Amino acid sequence: MPEPYRTIVEPFRIHSVEPLRFLTADERAAKVRDAGYNLFDLHADDVLIDLLTDSGTGAMSRDQWAAIQHGDESYAGSPSWFTFLAAVQELFPFPHVIPTHQGRAAEKILFTAIAAPGMVVPNNTHFDTTRANVEFTGAEAVDLVIPQGRDPSADHPFKGNMDLDALDALLADRAADVPVVMVTVTNNSGGGQPVSLENLRGVRAICDRYGVPLFLDACRFAENAWFITLREPGYEGASVPDVVREMAALADGMTMSAKKDPMANIGGWLALRDDDLAERCRNLLILTEGFPTYGGLAGRDLEAIAQGLRECVDEHYLRYRIRSTAYLAEALDAADVPTVKPAGGHAVYLDARALLPHVPPLAYPGQSLAVALYEAGGIRGCEIGTVMFGLRPDGTEAPAAMDLVRLAIPRRTYTQSHVDYVIEVVTDVASRASSLPGYRIVEQPAQLRHFTARFEPLG
Ligand code: F0G
Repeated sequence: MPEPYRTIVEPFRIHSVEPLRFLTADERAAKVRDAGYNLFDLHADDVLIDLLTDSGTGAMSRDQWAAIQHGDESYAGSPSWFTFLAAVQELFPFPHVIPTHQGRAAEKILFTAIAAPGMVVPNNTHFDTTRANVEFTGAEAVDLVIPQGRDPSADHPFKGNMDLDALDALLADRAADVPVVMVTVTNNSGGGQPVSLENLRGVRAICDRYGVPLFLDACRFAENAWFITLREPGYEGASVPDVVREMAALADGMTMSAKKDPMANIGGWLALRDDDLAERCRNLLILTEGFPTYGGLAGRDLEAIAQGLRECVDEHYLRYRIRSTAYLAEALDAADVPTVKPAGGHAVYLDARALLPHVPPLAYPGQSLAVALYEAGGIRGCEIGTVMFGLRPDGTEAPAAMDLVRLAIPRRTYTQSHVDYVIEVVTDVASRASSLPGYRIVEQPAQLRHFTARFEPLG
């Protein structure tokens, strides 16, 4: 029986609050100039609404804080490890679970173990750290999302899907050079878009045909599963944990950041079926992260993750979560602000290339829009475009597939009035987008330049 009322009630009430600090527009202009127009270089307390990332920024629940008190800090065989292991395997029944301090540590271990120069790793879309970890081994990272997944305005229920023909063609040609096929759920760099079970089954069949393993980059698995229950024929009303287990059953392993859907502030894991590979990965874990029953984590972190895993597959939580992201997207749509369609799970992506047609990709329209949102209203978003992806391993530069600004929504953190304020600021900045400048980079590192590059406005 559907509820008679539309308003989505946050499935929690507030128990402890953090103050926000209000700066003037002049103060913000000075802060961002001093930061070299790189929002990663701001002090977080100079930000009013922080939509830089949904990673590790969610509000933990009462029960997660309580679980922390159960943390057992034994070096080996801690009860907290077994609590964590059971919670992970309840959803992802892989025999080997290797705890890491966050997702990129799992990526580093996996690709160190399996990738090398001359190899190629396909993914629907690599996240930046995933791409960097693949390229660091000398292998090539290739994005094979369906064509609709590269077109911000194309509407498709599963825009994160892998292009099966392109994957088949790549494997027909080079299967021997492909150590793993990765599928990112949801597809973060492509707009937080879900992948269907049908598509995952298609990827699995191709991997089987060529004898290549399939791994999930599963950071936002619960949001992906919720979209499946909303959009995939045959799964209407299915149980979210069942859908997650069905996703896991199609894969040989996973990399994971517990800072996303599991609502922890830190943590991650690598899980897999293959015994030999697991042993090699555990040996690398011991070198860089820690003993296999804690990895890079304290016992208390393992407890918080275990509890978060139970909460993030709750359907009241997921309904609120996905509905509140859509609420922001719908309001921006009504104000004619171009965004990636449909709304993603964890974020709304502004289409800076469409909004700032006077700024060419190599003058970074996404950076320009992100800086303007901070200057206007203290909102910190994240450029996902040519700054993040435009620098190639050989040092040349090319436009990224899209120039987006991601407004990522931390889990259970901001209220609807915070979001209403964001709508007001974005709409105002969009109305004067034609006056926003391009930028040039004045300093940058060789890799992952978006974190530390310094910029200057053009003209
Ligand atoms: N894979 C995906 C799809 C991600 O979104 C992230 C992190 C990682 C891997 C790496 O995990 O941060 O725990 O090392 N994404 C964050 C973001 C940082 O803002 O989207 P990590």
